[in-house]
Amino acid sequence: MARDPRAHWQELATAVEYGRAALRVGLWESEELLVARYFRTPDRLLEVGCGGGRVALGLLQRGYLDVTATDFSPAMVEVARGVLEEARTGWGGRVEQQDATALTYPDAGFDGVIYAFNGLMCLPDAAHRARALRSIHRVLRPGGLFLGSGADREKGALAGHWAQQADGEQPGDRWHETSTSPVFMHSSTEAETHAELHAAGFEVLTSPLSTELAAESAEVRAFCGETRFYVARKVNGSAGPAS
Ligand SMILES: C[S@@+](CC[C@H](N)C(=O)[O-])C[C@H]1O[C@@H](n2cnc3c(N)ncnc32)[C@H](O)[C@@H]1O
Repeated sequence: MARDPRAHWQELATAVEYGRAALRVGLWESEELLVARYFRTPDRLLEVGCGGGRVALGLLQRGYLDVTATDFSPAMVEVARGVLEEARTGWGGRVEQQDATALTYPDAGFDGVIYAFNGLMCLPDAAHRARALRSIHRVLRPGGLFLGSGADREKGALAGHWAQQADGEQPGDRWHETSTSPVFMHSSTEAETHAELHAAGFEVLTSPLSTELAAESAEVRAFCGETRFYVARKVNGSAGPAS
């Protein structure tokens, strides 16, 4: 029977792991640097695939005022709500259940959208990634910014690990063991992700490896390894329907 790439994210045990990361790992130095460079504290920010609330918590603690954190998984939403509410009364209400491939927010309502740490890469295939990027494009204002990150199977210290190919799978598609259950992950090349962003109506501003930006703590390195960031601007005009 085919495995369901969404199942891992819907388990409470996985959500609890991501909740722990929100509290113990926090915002990476490289993320903090890019957030400070590209977003201002009054910006209307949407986080998709928020997991246990790691990035949203980091943003709120750094004074970002208008943060909405979303995830498709009810377990992640529950854990992220708990993490944020524990940090400050009322913050839990900023977490909503939304599928990144079919966001229900009005057009052009956000200045920035963040899809951190392999968010795009855990969608089942290229069609889902395209739907997510078009959906994100739709909810961004013209000129609004997308910040995402994902594993690179061509360049960087972990390229060999990510490039390992199982028979019959698309390049970059693999199931990995985790402490809870196997997780599906797609690792891309920089050129592939640029092409996906362009096709959805974005102009790529920069796409550095995390190690080119900061020397992360041992805790961060153990959580995420090396990853590639993508900062892209919504080019005026429509990228077409999201589905
Ligand atoms: C690798 S985790 C990253 C979590 C968090 N962004 C972080 O950096 O700690 C990927 C997240 O994407 C979420 N996700 C997977 N498919 C999704 C979808 N279609 N829409 C929204 N979120 C999704 C998962 O539930 C999970 O929380």
